[in-house]
Amino acid sequence: MASTVVWRPIWRGRSCGSASRRCSPAFPGCGRLPGRRWAGGTISGCRCSLRCPSPGERNGPARDRRSYGSGGAGAVAWRVSFISTKSGQFRYFDVQLGHPDWSGRRVLDFGGNVGTFLEEAGGRIRPSDYWCVDVSRAAIEAGRRRRPQAHWVYYDRYNPQFNPGGVPGLRLPGLGTRFDYVLAYSVFTHTPDDEAVELVRALRPILTDDGLLAFTFIDPGWTPPGSGQVSNVRWRLDSRSGGAGPGRASVPGHPQAAIDRAVQAPWCAVVDRTLHFDPAAPVPPGERYDVLWSPDHVRSLFPAAEVRPPAVPERQHCCLLGPGD
Ligand SMILES: C[S@@+](CC[C@H](N)C(=O)[O-])C[C@H]1O[C@@H](n2cnc3c(N)ncnc32)[C@H](O)[C@@H]1O
Repeated sequence: MASTVVWRPIWRGRSCGSASRRCSPAFPGCGRLPGRRWAGGTISGCRCSLRCPSPGERNGPARDRRSYGSGGAGAVAWRVSFISTKSGQFRYFDVQLGHPDWSGRRVLDFGGNVGTFLEEAGGRIRPSDYWCVDVSRAAIEAGRRRRPQAHWVYYDRYNPQFNPGGVPGLRLPGLGTRFDYVLAYSVFTHTPDDEAVELVRALRPILTDDGLLAFTFIDPGWTPPGSGQVSNVRWRLDSRSGGAGPGRASVPGHPQAAIDRAVQAPWCAVVDRTLHFDPAAPVPPGERYDVLWSPDHVRSLFPAAEVRPPAVPERQHCCLLGPGD
Protein backbone atom coordinates (compact mmCIF):
# COMPACT_ATOMS: atom_id res chain seq x y z
CA MET A 1 0.00 0.00 0.00
CA ALA A 2 1.32 3.42 -0.84
CA SER A 3 1.96 5.93 1.85
CA THR A 4 -1.33 7.35 2.93
CA VAL A 5 -0.20 10.62 4.32
CA VAL A 6 1.53 13.83 3.43
CA TRP A 7 3.44 15.36 6.30
CA ARG A 8 4.70 18.85 5.87
CA PRO A 9 5.83 21.38 8.42
CA ILE A 10 4.83 24.52 6.64
CA TRP A 11 7.15 26.99 8.20
CA ARG A 12 10.05 27.25 10.51
CA GLY A 13 11.59 30.28 12.11
CA ARG A 14 14.17 31.46 14.54
CA SER A 15 13.03 31.58 18.13
CA CYS A 16 12.70 34.97 19.71
CA GLY A 17 14.31 33.35 22.74
CA SER A 18 11.96 35.17 25.04
CA ALA A 19 10.24 33.39 27.86
CA SER A 20 7.25 35.68 27.87
CA ARG A 21 6.66 37.05 24.45
CA ARG A 22 3.85 35.85 22.27
CA CYS A 23 4.03 35.77 18.52
CA SER A 24 1.65 37.65 16.37
CA PRO A 25 -1.83 36.19 16.68
CA ALA A 26 -2.16 36.95 12.97
CA PHE A 27 -0.60 33.61 12.31
CA PRO A 28 -2.51 30.68 13.76
CA GLY A 29 -0.29 28.28 15.62
CA CYS A 30 1.69 31.12 17.14
CA GLY A 31 0.80 32.58 20.50
CA ARG A 32 2.23 29.69 22.47
CA LEU A 33 3.77 30.40 25.81
CA PRO A 34 6.70 28.40 27.08
CA GLY A 35 6.31 25.92 29.85
CA ARG A 36 4.24 23.54 27.80
CA ARG A 37 4.95 19.93 28.41
CA TRP A 38 5.51 17.50 25.61
CA ALA A 39 6.11 13.80 25.88
CA GLY A 40 9.78 14.35 26.56
CA GLY A 41 9.83 17.28 28.92
CA THR A 42 8.95 20.92 29.28
CA ILE A 43 9.54 23.44 26.55
CA SER A 44 11.78 25.90 28.25
CA GLY A 45 11.75 28.78 25.83
CA CYS A 46 9.43 30.39 23.38
CA ARG A 47 9.11 28.41 20.20
CA CYS A 48 7.51 31.21 18.30
CA SER A 49 9.06 32.98 15.42
CA LEU A 50 10.39 36.48 15.75
CA ARG A 51 8.30 37.40 12.79
CA CYS A 52 5.42 35.88 10.95
CA PRO A 53 6.60 34.15 7.82
CA SER A 54 5.72 35.10 4.32
CA PRO A 55 3.50 32.66 2.44
CA GLY A 56 6.55 31.49 0.51
CA GLU A 57 8.35 30.59 3.71
CA ARG A 58 5.31 28.85 5.07
CA ASN A 59 5.31 26.53 2.14
CA GLY A 60 9.03 26.16 2.14
CA PRO A 61 11.12 23.03 2.09
CA ALA A 62 9.47 19.98 3.59
CA ARG A 63 12.53 19.16 5.66
CA ASP A 64 14.91 21.50 7.34
CA ARG A 65 17.15 21.40 10.35
CA ARG A 66 14.99 20.99 13.39
CA SER A 67 15.55 21.41 17.04
CA TYR A 68 13.13 21.33 19.90
CA GLY A 69 12.66 21.64 23.59
CA SER A 70 15.39 24.17 24.20
CA GLY A 71 14.16 27.48 22.88
CA GLY A 72 16.90 29.83 21.82
CA ALA A 73 18.23 30.34 18.33
CA GLY A 74 17.30 27.59 15.97
CA ALA A 75 14.18 26.48 17.83
CA VAL A 76 11.31 25.51 15.63
CA ALA A 77 7.88 27.03 15.53
CA TRP A 78 5.60 24.18 14.66
CA ARG A 79 2.90 24.59 12.14
CA VAL A 80 2.11 21.32 10.47
CA SER A 81 -0.19 20.97 7.56
CA PHE A 82 -1.44 17.45 7.36
CA ILE A 83 -3.87 16.41 4.67
CA SER A 84 -4.57 12.70 4.38
CA THR A 85 -4.70 11.18 0.91
CA LYS A 86 -5.92 7.81 2.16
CA SER A 87 -9.12 6.45 0.64
CA GLY A 88 -11.32 3.47 1.43
CA GLN A 89 -12.37 4.50 4.95
CA PHE A 90 -16.12 4.25 4.31
CA ARG A 91 -15.80 0.81 2.78
CA TYR A 92 -13.54 -0.25 5.64
CA PHE A 93 -16.07 0.59 8.38
CA ASP A 94 -19.05 -0.50 6.29
CA VAL A 95 -17.52 -3.98 6.06
CA GLN A 96 -16.31 -4.09 9.67
CA LEU A 97 -19.73 -3.02 10.96
CA GLY A 98 -21.63 -5.49 8.75
CA HIS A 99 -23.11 -3.05 6.22
CA PRO A 100 -25.41 -1.14 8.57
CA ASP A 101 -28.20 1.13 7.41
CA TRP A 102 -26.38 4.44 7.73
CA SER A 103 -29.36 6.66 6.96
CA GLY A 104 -30.23 9.02 9.78
CA ARG A 105 -27.32 7.75 11.88
CA ARG A 106 -25.04 10.32 13.45
CA VAL A 107 -21.37 9.69 12.84
CA LEU A 108 -18.36 11.16 14.58
CA ASP A 109 -15.24 10.67 12.47
CA PHE A 110 -12.61 11.14 15.15
CA GLY A 111 -9.33 12.14 13.51
CA GLY A 112 -11.27 12.17 10.25
CA ASN A 113 -8.96 14.72 8.61
CA VAL A 114 -10.66 16.14 5.47
CA GLY A 115 -13.64 13.80 5.74
CA THR A 116 -12.88 11.30 3.00
CA PHE A 117 -15.20 8.94 4.88
CA LEU A 118 -18.16 11.26 4.22
CA GLU A 119 -17.25 11.73 0.56
CA GLU A 120 -17.01 8.01 0.03
CA ALA A 121 -20.33 7.38 1.78
CA GLY A 122 -21.80 8.79 -1.42
CA GLY A 123 -25.02 10.18 0.02
CA ARG A 124 -25.67 7.34 2.49
CA ILE A 125 -24.82 9.77 5.30
CA ARG A 126 -26.19 13.31 5.24
CA PRO A 127 -23.49 15.93 5.82
CA SER A 128 -25.63 17.32 8.65
CA ASP A 129 -25.31 13.93 10.42
CA TYR A 130 -21.52 13.94 10.13
CA TRP A 131 -19.02 15.40 12.64
CA CYS A 132 -15.28 15.45 12.14
CA VAL A 133 -12.90 16.25 15.01
CA ASP A 134 -9.22 16.56 14.20
CA VAL A 135 -6.01 18.11 15.49
CA SER A 136 -5.05 19.16 11.96
CA ARG A 137 -6.35 22.67 11.48
CA ALA A 138 -5.59 22.59 7.75
CA ALA A 139 -7.60 19.40 7.32
CA ILE A 140 -10.59 20.75 9.25
CA GLU A 141 -10.58 23.93 7.18
CA ALA A 142 -10.32 21.98 3.93
CA GLY A 143 -13.15 19.65 4.96
CA ARG A 144 -15.35 22.58 5.93
CA ARG A 145 -14.76 24.25 2.59
CA ARG A 146 -15.73 21.05 0.81
CA ARG A 147 -18.80 20.17 2.92
CA PRO A 148 -19.96 23.22 4.86
CA GLN A 149 -23.17 21.48 5.99
CA ALA A 150 -21.16 18.96 8.02
CA HIS A 151 -19.71 19.71 11.47
CA TRP A 152 -15.96 20.43 11.55
CA VAL A 153 -14.25 20.78 14.90
CA TYR A 154 -10.61 21.71 15.29
CA TYR A 155 -9.20 20.10 18.43
CA ASP A 156 -5.95 21.85 19.33
CA ARG A 157 -4.51 18.91 21.24
CA TYR A 158 -0.84 18.11 21.13
CA ASN A 159 0.25 15.23 18.94
CA PRO A 160 3.95 14.79 18.24
CA GLN A 161 3.38 14.15 14.56
CA PHE A 162 0.22 15.98 13.61
CA ASN A 163 0.00 18.90 16.01
CA PRO A 164 3.34 19.45 17.74
CA GLY A 165 2.29 23.00 18.67
CA GLY A 166 -0.93 21.84 20.33
CA VAL A 167 -1.95 21.68 23.98
CA PRO A 168 -0.92 18.45 25.74
CA GLY A 169 -3.84 16.61 27.28
CA LEU A 170 -6.48 19.10 26.10
CA ARG A 171 -9.94 17.75 26.91
CA LEU A 172 -12.24 16.65 24.15
CA PRO A 173 -14.52 19.56 23.21
CA GLY A 174 -18.24 19.21 23.89
CA LEU A 175 -20.04 18.28 20.69
CA GLY A 176 -23.59 18.79 21.92
CA THR A 177 -24.95 15.49 20.70
CA ARG A 178 -24.52 11.72 20.92
CA PHE A 179 -23.48 9.44 18.09
CA ASP A 180 -24.60 6.13 16.66
CA TYR A 181 -21.06 5.58 15.44
CA VAL A 182 -17.77 6.99 16.59
CA LEU A 183 -15.13 5.92 14.11
CA ALA A 184 -11.38 6.46 14.15
CA TYR A 185 -9.35 5.26 11.22
CA SER A 186 -5.62 5.22 11.88
CA VAL A 187 -5.74 7.69 14.76
CA PHE A 188 -4.66 5.61 17.76
CA THR A 189 -1.90 4.34 15.50
CA HIS A 190 -0.26 7.69 16.25
CA THR A 191 -0.85 8.18 19.97
CA PRO A 192 0.80 6.79 23.11
CA ASP A 193 -1.19 4.13 24.94
CA ASP A 194 -2.26 6.31 27.87
CA GLU A 195 -3.67 8.88 25.45
CA ALA A 196 -5.52 6.29 23.42
CA VAL A 197 -7.10 4.88 26.58
CA GLU A 198 -8.00 8.35 27.81
CA LEU A 199 -9.54 9.37 24.49
CA VAL A 200 -11.55 6.17 24.19
CA ARG A 201 -12.80 6.76 27.73
CA ALA A 202 -13.87 10.27 26.72
CA LEU A 203 -15.54 9.11 23.50
CA ARG A 204 -17.66 6.26 24.81
CA PRO A 205 -20.07 8.41 26.86
CA ILE A 206 -21.05 10.30 23.70
CA LEU A 207 -22.34 7.13 22.06
CA THR A 208 -26.09 6.51 21.94
CA ASP A 209 -27.32 3.62 24.07
CA ASP A 210 -26.87 1.18 21.19
CA GLY A 211 -23.98 3.09 19.61
CA LEU A 212 -20.64 1.67 18.60
CA LEU A 213 -17.09 2.94 18.79
CA ALA A 214 -14.85 1.42 16.12
CA PHE A 215 -11.19 2.23 15.73
CA THR A 216 -8.32 0.72 13.83
CA PHE A 217 -4.97 -0.53 14.96
CA ILE A 218 -1.97 -2.07 13.25
CA ASP A 219 -0.74 -5.49 14.35
CA PRO A 220 3.05 -5.55 13.80
CA GLY A 221 3.10 -9.26 12.98
CA TRP A 222 0.13 -9.37 10.62
CA THR A 223 0.91 -10.10 6.98
CA PRO A 224 -1.70 -9.96 4.21
CA PRO A 225 -2.55 -13.24 2.54
CA GLY A 226 -0.77 -14.00 -0.73
CA SER A 227 2.78 -14.38 -1.80
CA GLY A 228 5.36 -11.64 -1.65
CA GLN A 229 3.59 -9.76 1.15
CA VAL A 230 5.44 -8.21 4.07
CA SER A 231 4.47 -7.88 7.71
CA ASN A 232 2.90 -4.66 8.94
CA VAL A 233 6.03 -3.62 10.75
CA ARG A 234 8.14 -4.11 7.64
CA TRP A 235 5.52 -2.16 5.70
CA ARG A 236 5.71 0.70 8.19
CA LEU A 237 9.50 0.73 8.00
CA ASP A 238 9.74 0.41 4.26
CA SER A 239 9.54 4.09 3.55
CA ARG A 240 12.31 4.86 6.02
CA SER A 241 15.97 4.22 6.31
CA GLY A 242 17.32 3.13 9.66
CA GLY A 243 19.08 4.85 12.47
CA ALA A 244 20.30 4.18 15.96
CA GLY A 245 19.95 5.99 19.24
CA PRO A 246 19.72 5.29 22.96
CA GLY A 247 17.17 2.54 23.55
CA ARG A 248 16.47 2.21 19.86
CA ALA A 249 16.98 -0.67 17.51
CA SER A 250 19.05 0.23 14.50
CA VAL A 251 17.09 -0.91 11.50
CA PRO A 252 19.88 -1.07 8.93
CA GLY A 253 22.40 -2.50 11.39
CA HIS A 254 20.27 -5.41 12.53
CA PRO A 255 17.31 -5.35 10.20
CA GLN A 256 16.00 -8.86 10.53
CA ALA A 257 16.66 -9.14 14.27
CA ALA A 258 14.85 -5.88 14.97
CA ILE A 259 11.95 -6.81 12.74
CA ASP A 260 11.69 -10.33 14.18
CA ARG A 261 11.48 -8.80 17.63
CA ALA A 262 8.85 -6.30 16.49
CA VAL A 263 6.73 -8.97 14.80
CA GLN A 264 6.40 -10.72 18.18
CA ALA A 265 6.09 -7.58 20.26
CA PRO A 266 2.88 -6.57 22.02
CA TRP A 267 3.81 -2.94 21.39
CA CYS A 268 6.32 -1.26 19.16
CA ALA A 269 6.59 2.04 17.37
CA VAL A 270 8.33 3.43 14.36
CA VAL A 271 9.57 6.85 15.42
CA ASP A 272 10.90 8.62 12.39
CA ARG A 273 13.51 6.07 11.26
CA THR A 274 13.84 3.80 14.25
CA LEU A 275 11.99 0.99 15.93
CA HIS A 276 11.09 1.53 19.58
CA PHE A 277 10.03 -1.11 22.07
CA ASP A 278 9.51 1.02 25.16
CA PRO A 279 6.06 2.64 25.28
CA ALA A 280 7.29 5.09 27.92
CA ALA A 281 10.12 6.46 25.76
CA PRO A 282 9.64 10.14 24.89
CA VAL A 283 8.70 11.07 21.36
CA PRO A 284 10.19 14.34 20.17
CA PRO A 285 7.72 16.71 18.54
CA GLY A 286 7.79 16.68 14.78
CA GLU A 287 8.75 13.04 14.41
CA ARG A 288 6.69 10.55 12.51
CA TYR A 289 5.17 8.34 15.14
CA ASP A 290 3.55 5.05 14.12
CA VAL A 291 2.36 2.87 16.98
CA LEU A 292 1.73 -0.85 16.44
CA TRP A 293 -0.29 -3.07 18.81
CA SER A 294 -0.78 -6.82 18.89
CA PRO A 295 -4.43 -7.93 19.28
CA ASP A 296 -3.58 -9.23 22.77
CA HIS A 297 -2.20 -5.85 23.71
CA VAL A 298 -5.43 -4.22 22.54
CA ARG A 299 -7.42 -6.64 24.71
CA SER A 300 -5.23 -5.76 27.66
CA LEU A 301 -5.96 -2.05 27.14
CA PHE A 302 -9.66 -2.55 26.36
CA PRO A 303 -10.77 -5.82 27.97
CA ALA A 304 -14.33 -5.64 26.62
CA ALA A 305 -13.27 -5.02 23.05
CA GLU A 306 -14.20 -7.16 20.12
CA VAL A 307 -11.24 -7.37 17.77
CA ARG A 308 -11.75 -8.06 14.08
CA PRO A 309 -9.06 -8.84 11.50
CA PRO A 310 -8.41 -6.61 8.52
CA ALA A 311 -10.61 -7.06 5.48
CA VAL A 312 -8.59 -7.13 2.26
CA PRO A 313 -7.12 -4.84 0.95
CA GLU A 314 -6.71 -3.19 4.34
CA ARG A 315 -3.90 -3.84 6.80
CA GLN A 316 -5.56 -2.46 9.90
CA HIS A 317 -7.47 -4.47 12.49
CA CYS A 318 -10.70 -3.09 13.93
CA CYS A 319 -11.54 -2.76 17.61
CA LEU A 320 -15.24 -2.45 18.55
CA LEU A 321 -16.64 -1.15 21.82
CA GLY A 322 -20.15 -0.30 22.97
CA PRO A 323 -21.09 2.56 25.31
CA GLY A 324 -21.03 0.47 28.47
CA ASP A 325 -18.53 -2.27 27.69
C1 LIG B 1 -3.14 8.81 9.67
S1 LIG B 1 -4.22 10.13 9.78
C2 LIG B 1 -5.77 9.41 9.33
C3 LIG B 1 -6.76 10.43 8.89
C4 LIG B 1 -8.12 9.90 8.50
N1 LIG B 1 -8.75 9.13 9.53
C5 LIG B 1 -7.98 9.11 7.23
O1 LIG B 1 -8.16 7.92 7.28
O2 LIG B 1 -7.68 9.70 6.21
C6 LIG B 1 -4.39 10.42 11.51
C7 LIG B 1 -5.33 11.57 11.82
O3 LIG B 1 -5.57 11.63 13.21
C8 LIG B 1 -5.53 12.98 13.62
N2 LIG B 1 -5.25 12.96 15.06
C9 LIG B 1 -4.11 12.60 15.69
N3 LIG B 1 -4.26 12.69 17.02
C10 LIG B 1 -5.53 13.12 17.24
C11 LIG B 1 -6.29 13.39 18.40
N4 LIG B 1 -5.78 13.27 19.63
N5 LIG B 1 -7.57 13.80 18.25
C12 LIG B 1 -8.11 13.94 17.01
N6 LIG B 1 -7.42 13.70 15.86
C13 LIG B 1 -6.15 13.29 15.98
C14 LIG B 1 -4.46 13.58 12.75
O4 LIG B 1 -4.51 14.97 12.67
C15 LIG B 1 -4.76 12.92 11.42
O5 LIG B 1 -5.72 13.62 10.67
